[in-house]
Amino acid sequence: MMRKINVGIIGFGTIGSGVLKILQDNSDVIRKRLGAIVEVVKIADLDITSDRGVRVDPKLLTTQAQEVIKHPEVDVVVELIGGYEPARSLILQAVNEGKHVVTANKALLAKHGSEIFSAVENQQLSIGFEAAVGGAIPIIRAIRESFVANKIYSIEGIVNGTANYILSKMSDEQCSFDLALKEAQDKGFAEADPTFDIEGIDSAHKIAILSQLAYGTPVNFGDITIQGISGVSIDDIECAREFGYRIKLLAISKFDGDSVDIRVHPAMIPQSNLMANVNGVLNAVRVCDDLMEENILIGHGAGSLPTGSAVVADIIEISRDILSGSKLRVSPRSFLSTSIKTIPILNIESIDSEYFLRFSVFDNPGVLSLISGILGKYSIGIFSVIQKGRCDEGKAVPLIMMTHHSNEKNIQLALREIDKLKVVYEKSNFIRVEK
Ligand code: HSE
Repeated sequence: MMRKINVGIIGFGTIGSGVLKILQDNSDVIRKRLGAIVEVVKIADLDITSDRGVRVDPKLLTTQAQEVIKHPEVDVVVELIGGYEPARSLILQAVNEGKHVVTANKALLAKHGSEIFSAVENQQLSIGFEAAVGGAIPIIRAIRESFVANKIYSIEGIVNGTANYILSKMSDEQCSFDLALKEAQDKGFAEADPTFDIEGIDSAHKIAILSQLAYGTPVNFGDITIQGISGVSIDDIECAREFGYRIKLLAISKFDGDSVDIRVHPAMIPQSNLMANVNGVLNAVRVCDDLMEENILIGHGAGSLPTGSAVVADIIEISRDILSGSKLRVSPRSFLSTSIKTIPILNIESIDSEYFLRFSVFDNPGVLSLISGILGKYSIGIFSVIQKGRCDEGKAVPLIMMTHHSNEKNIQLALREIDKLKVVYEKSNFIRVEK
């Protein structure tokens, strides 16, 4: 008789219902590839009455997560409730009960990954979290397995579909941030509270996880510089276009051998760059290492079936290990726990970059020389300048500059000084350039 792997799901929302649908609709291909049947034997959610658009035997449903965790036949517990608690406690309890775990919870792994990975390793169990970063893009598997011999030195990602949708819409339709956000919400891309998506926090969770796997270092989430897209204006997008760039919310992680530079912020990318042309809700992750110049993975980073497929792939990978009797075949952290070493995270003030600067100034004689004088004092070289034509007398005009490579601390000090000038109408803005 064919072996059965039993799965319990905690959290029956968008992804949970996608997982059940995939296991039902694609059971044949899964059975042919795995040589076993994967069956959901318990599903816990606080709401067990709403229709999820998927067939479900009411006997499987419970409001008690403990019925999944303590279920004697469950081999794999799938946590899909998100957030820190009770997700953390439920996963640790499941591990204590000897259950393998699959989760899509990036916030939890970014902050409590070390504790959870240690618990899993101590019990000689497996944890799958492919769905936590980039939805259907197999970036976790790529780093942990495909690039296992490679020394990774940078990862750059467009890893939030909501933010990418908003920036793409602003750019393609010249609409405001507020309008683009409203449309994202109306279409169901953005959460009712989109703070984590638009303020870069969701992207920071994801780059924290990828950095740990890529370099074998714990990452203190609080050390990551995070800047979202709510300050990006249509003027920034239009000016970027004039210089030949598009603005994307980038999650960046660079390792120079001594320290890691991890940050999330809007970045100007040359229009000719593939990453600049990843639009709408699509995600992309670019990995550079010593063996291949670059490798860019592009795909759907959210949604019931794309994210559900990553969860199901993890369930199947664990099932293969259960069937073959393998334990800890792939370390959850990608590096053995004995090889994990803390690498310091660089303070943003010490990075060097090219910068796009946007000033709003009164169009008086001598303004340009005042501003360029202050930039010169801080060793900031100007690469090019555009001053938009004079509007009505006495009104401010945009003054745009691209700089040569400059130090971030100097940029911040210079802008602080420039913003005190009487000829400057409102707070100046800067966007880092990533080539
Ligand atoms: N909220 C995320 C996004 C999807 O907009 O990309 C889940 O990680």
